Amino acid sequence: MTAVTARACANIALVKYWGKRDAALNLPAAGSLSLTLAALVTETTVSFDAALAQDSLELDGGAADASRVAPFLDLVRAAAGISAHARVISANHFPTASGLASSASGYAALALAATRAAGLQLEPRELSILARRGSGSAARSIFGGFVRMHAGTRADGSDAFATPIETSMHERVRMVIAIVGGGVPKTHGSRDAMEHCAATSPLYAAWLACVPGDLETAEAAIARGDVQALGELAEANALAMHASAIAARPAIIYWQPATLALLAAVRDLRARGVAAWATMDAGPHVKVLTTAADADAVSTSLRAVSGVTSTMISTAGGAAELVG
Ligand code: PMV
Repeated sequence: MTAVTARACANIALVKYWGKRDAALNLPAAGSLSLTLAALVTETTVSFDAALAQDSLELDGGAADASRVAPFLDLVRAAAGISAHARVISANHFPTASGLASSASGYAALALAATRAAGLQLEPRELSILARRGSGSAARSIFGGFVRMHAGTRADGSDAFATPIETSMHERVRMVIAIVGGGVPKTHGSRDAMEHCAATSPLYAAWLACVPGDLETAEAAIARGDVQALGELAEANALAMHASAIAARPAIIYWQPATLALLAAVRDLRARGVAAWATMDAGPHVKVLTTAADADAVSTSLRAVSGVTSTMISTAGGAAELVG
């Protein structure tokens, strides 16, 4: 069968997804909102072949454990009514050893490439629902620019998908990513960490309770094109998510000393009138929302922080797409 290649960009949440209402279907407990990033791209090629004895996965040039993608490919096979196994070749065009999570771009690219290779032509909304099964944040990477993920209420997850937010504001913003390296211990995967938080953190309920209001505030800021209001909200939301993780028992602390130094540097930039608001995910790196005009100044300041191994500036990225 023919090989199909698709590419998708990673995204960074400004209102975080942190908690599930259904683990098996990967249904989020609340909505989220993100910015898709052009600098972090995954390209994936899929071919189904009846001659294959099992699914195979090649990741960044090396053989990888296909059991990570086989259950996802099963969903595609069931939808297409085929039984052939697949060859999956995936490459992350991320800065080398950045330690940035690639599950969002990875499952979005895989959802598009695998469905097309299986002869399916899904609408973006259906693709988003499928990508969600691989990773919750992947549902957002089907779309470009600012994206809203809807938690939905149905038990089958048919209303838990992402939609793009109509605005041209994404053209004015940049994300500066500061990579914290060196001696970083293995972090907690987001799947287990969310579950642990929900089960043990006394702040988990408070975290969930603040998400609907934060989504409203973020969407209103985007509707007004107000970068400052969006940035302030994003930083507060990320800190609330991390507070719930830190309060889990035992604690989940993703931050390194350099992470806190970066947060201080961002506050210092703001005190000097530079547009800069921080957000952090399931790792020590800090991503800073800024404007096109201030991105270079932000990047230069953050690179000077001790423990930071590199910085990069990303524009907003586009929707997942087929390549050739
Ligand atoms: O999509 P997952 O299961 O890797 O979870 C993503 C979790 C965060 O990155 C911390 C937040 C988010 O909304 O992307």
